[in-house]
Amino acid sequence: MALADIKPIQWIDGKVRIIDQTRLPAELVYVDMDDYVAMAEAICQLRVRGAPQLGIAAAYGLALGARRIKANGREEFLSKLSQVSKVLASTRPTAVNLFYALRRMESAAGKARTIADIQQALLDEAKRIADEEDAANRQLGKFGAELVGDGATILTHCNAGALATGGYGTALGVIYAAREAGKGVQVFADESRPLLQGSRLTAWELMQVGIPVTLITDSMYGHFLISGKIDLDVVGADRIAANGDVANKIGTYSVAVLAMENGVPFYVAAPVSTVDLSLASGDQIPIEERSPEEVTHLRGVPIAPAKVKVANPAFDVTPHHYVTAIITEKGVIREPYQERLRRVA
Ligand code: MRU
Repeated sequence: MALADIKPIQWIDGKVRIIDQTRLPAELVYVDMDDYVAMAEAICQLRVRGAPQLGIAAAYGLALGARRIKANGREEFLSKLSQVSKVLASTRPTAVNLFYALRRMESAAGKARTIADIQQALLDEAKRIADEEDAANRQLGKFGAELVGDGATILTHCNAGALATGGYGTALGVIYAAREAGKGVQVFADESRPLLQGSRLTAWELMQVGIPVTLITDSMYGHFLISGKIDLDVVGADRIAANGDVANKIGTYSVAVLAMENGVPFYVAAPVSTVDLSLASGDQIPIEERSPEEVTHLRGVPIAPAKVKVANPAFDVTPHHYVTAIITEKGVIREPYQERLRRVA
């Protein structure tokens, strides 16, 4: 399968078609949705996931919702639209792209005159968001590829690839761009417990496009680092605070600290839409707490004693001083992040 054949989210004839990522890698299943409630459910269940893609999904979800609203006039329509937007906004709290996209959508709706114009404006804006994310990923990939040496072994955490975006990837986008630039690369993907986005999704995605990948458990990372097997780390981000602190999939902080200890660069690849200048530092980033069953069960099979107390934060925050650079579509940003992020975002 070529990278272009991985189409995780598409608008087709009034419906949104997604790859149901909960079914991978066992089967590649597409699901069509024609209402926003199905989209909200898909986001909560991680059928559709990854920060940039959550923005696209929320935008298409609002466009779907708008097509079903019955209203006697513009004001009533906009008020009902705002309720739909609230439902979509309540699905997942950490990835800022979701809120960024909904804000843009509401603003586009507010500028249109008639109900039909609003519905069209919402669809146009959702498509624009999807196209912009794709272009941003490809551009940041090019900047990031310059940081990758020929023959490099790269560790990545979670899935920040085509499946997490509109179809190219942020962290994996850097790797794809390095390969497109003619460099030999290989990847170590860690499992990314508890939901195994690394093994289920990253390993699957890289194998589809023919990039050599070695799957390791999360706890093996230190071993491979200290043995000199990893040249650099590249991960994605769900939200980057104004000071450069980065929220990403739980376990990212441990990866970053071990990287610094071993003198290995730790890069974060993310579009500017992931930067949230309204939050001064990472402590203010809301961290999603997910259901205990994700930790106590694997595919429905218990792997922990019944009723054990569980904590399941889906993300952690890596303080900016562990981040070697943030790779964006506007360039590679290094310390001081505060000032430089403000300039690009
Ligand atoms: O819970 P998920 O699977 O949505 O988490 C995804 C991640 O943490 C990704 O690393 C992040 O969104 C970057 S995606 C380009």
